[in-house]
Amino acid sequence: MFDSGVGGLSVLQRIRDELPHENLLYVADSEHAPYGNKPVEFIVRRAFAITEFLLERGVKAVVVACNTATAAAIAPLRARFDMPIIGIEPALKPAVATTRTGVVGILATGNTVASNKFADLLDHHGHQARVLVQPCPGLADCVERGDLHGPRPHALLARYLQPLLEQNADTLVLGCTHYPFLIPLIQQLAGPNVTILDPGPAVARQLRHRLEMAGKLAGENVAGGECYFTSGAPERTAKVMRQLLNRSVTLTVLPKHFRSGTVFLGPELALHRVAGHEIG
Ligand code: DGL
Repeated sequence: MFDSGVGGLSVLQRIRDELPHENLLYVADSEHAPYGNKPVEFIVRRAFAITEFLLERGVKAVVVACNTATAAAIAPLRARFDMPIIGIEPALKPAVATTRTGVVGILATGNTVASNKFADLLDHHGHQARVLVQPCPGLADCVERGDLHGPRPHALLARYLQPLLEQNADTLVLGCTHYPFLIPLIQQLAGPNVTILDPGPAVARQLRHRLEMAGKLAGENVAGGECYFTSGAPERTAKVMRQLLNRSVTLTVLPKHFRSGTVFLGPELALHRVAGHEIG
């Protein structure tokens, strides 16, 4: 599994709850975080490089534990790699079923809300409620630094939540895997009557389902382990990972070939179109 940084650990925790016997390899692309404001073509390249790295390590499935990378890269990843590839997207469908006021707020990165995939999601489920879309620049960076309660995330969230709460949103969708680590602060600012939805558990159930279908679930006699990799500064990343997971983490730096932003696209992908942009 991978994310632009430490945010996907919120998904890793849910996968660990659901699948205690699986070995999990987690790549934090910290050198290139945040993805939320990067060109789509760049995110696709990073997704391919990291998936190739994971394949070299013998994985049987890949979880794109990042809404932004899912929106940018899940289609070309699935076209290229013949294995279960599970993505994540804002939990709009459960949100429209949950809201009592009929107003739902979505917090996500700028790239996610600008994507075709997000437009499709709104087309499918957005008409069943009033949906307020709030891009949140800077918020994932707070989590990357391990700043979950300080003045910066407090000020950003107060600004981003205000218009949603003023318009009576009672259900908030966390459309970025970094944000579940901010749930205590979000709940404090939004108040106890607001429901916060994190799609992490649904991703974990979907992974279980896909592995079951493929006959690839790990046996119950195996204790699942975890390996962590980063493209960024290992000490700083490991410190934040320990803080978020509340346990020790040993971190390995990705091989150089997989750290740069420009690793391969095969010739057949050079002309693949993503979100209207030509890549390659
Ligand atoms: N955690 C990511 C997501 O789910 C991306 C945050 C970022 O790198 O901007 O969208």
